[in-house]
Amino acid sequence: MKKNSLKAKLTGILPDDVINKVNRSFEVVGDIAIIEISEELEQYEKQIGEALLQVNVSLKTILKKSGIHHGEFRTQDLVYVAGVEKYETEYLENGVRFKLNPGRVYFSARLSTERSDLMSMLDENQRVLVMFSGAGPYSLTALKMKPNLPLLTAIEINPNGHKYATESLALNKNILKKTKQYQSFLKFVKSHKLPVLEKNTLPMFNKTKVNFINGNVRIETREFHSKFADKKIEFYDNNIFDYEFKNIYHILDQLKDTKINIDVSKIHKIDEFINFFILFFDKFQWTAKIENKDYVFENSIEKAVFLEYLRNQENRKIEELHKYDEIYMPLPKDAELFLDCAFRSAAPGAIVHMYDFVHENDFPSKSENAVIKSAEKNNVKVEIIETRKVGQYSPRKYRVCCDFKVL
Ligand SMILES: C[S@@+](CC[C@H](N)C(=O)[O-])C[C@H]1O[C@@H](n2cnc3c(N)ncnc32)[C@H](O)[C@@H]1O
Repeated sequence: MKKNSLKAKLTGILPDDVINKVNRSFEVVGDIAIIEISEELEQYEKQIGEALLQVNVSLKTILKKSGIHHGEFRTQDLVYVAGVEKYETEYLENGVRFKLNPGRVYFSARLSTERSDLMSMLDENQRVLVMFSGAGPYSLTALKMKPNLPLLTAIEINPNGHKYATESLALNKNILKKTKQYQSFLKFVKSHKLPVLEKNTLPMFNKTKVNFINGNVRIETREFHSKFADKKIEFYDNNIFDYEFKNIYHILDQLKDTKINIDVSKIHKIDEFINFFILFFDKFQWTAKIENKDYVFENSIEKAVFLEYLRNQENRKIEELHKYDEIYMPLPKDAELFLDCAFRSAAPGAIVHMYDFVHENDFPSKSENAVIKSAEKNNVKVEIIETRKVGQYSPRKYRVCCDFKVL
């Protein structure tokens, strides 16, 4: 028996027959280990946790699983066992730093190779959509490995997941390039004596347009785009930005909870508007007149979507609005229900990666049939590239990924 093994540390503390029943495999996220303890061993969990801390000196905290991943957010309840009582950690994977609480957002370190394999195959020119983005492992790995992507949109319904993803994005700011735009923004902020919210601002100035979208709205919210898809918006000539926004800066702090209407349709300098958006995103209700119809944007997802619309207007690329070349769907439990969305968002030639849970008897037909059926319904032609086993989910059941091309 190895001197520094879990078994050695427990010898003399727990009866031998108990030691033999201790599950030696566990998950590690940063300095937190997540263990499984059977009901029978619950009375010994503290000793098991403490022995594990002695064996793995990089660990600070031992938590145990209390049930399986559940609910729409696919989270897993975790209970404190030993070490420092904390639930949040920082974790490094494929050179990307993550901050997260593994009990409040789904996260599996076991999928790290899957993520780096996929992102190493990603073409630098692709517009990327990560549906169900969680704490951002797919999106941040993509940004790290391919920093010149033109567009990356990540959508997550769990507010905690979204919070951790945006915080981790800021943590990784060394992977983001400081552009001219960012320098002029800094100048602007200084001349107006504004606080520099570096954490929130930097990502917007990376070469990649990054949208992390969250709200009490599901992915279907993307329907929201279609309201504008063929409309024209007028950018007036008078510079409302200079005229009005400058005047409200100094009283902003007193306005914390006040709602102000900003007629975004009158802004003609989109860059300046983006600066404004970053600093005071939540403080105002936005309104816009588009072809004589008034629109109000109240919550953050509506604003993020509208901002994206404005940017596309400026680039005169409306026909390309929200089309993606590479789409990840890492929600094995339900991804196939969102295939309609994937088809609507796919540019011709797009590659889609749809995750699924499949019993060995139904592999690979279950996932492939779902793709083919949905493609027919959406009048789209597809070519299945491969359905891969990505891991074991339960006895005789796999986590798989069906990679297919939209023709
Ligand atoms: C299995 S987790 C994967 C998270 C992340 N991609 C990862 O690999 O760690 C699936 C995620 O989808 C999110 N989700 C579920 N339904 C959603 C929906 N309709 N719109 C957006 N996100 C959703 C959940 O909150 C959860 O974080």
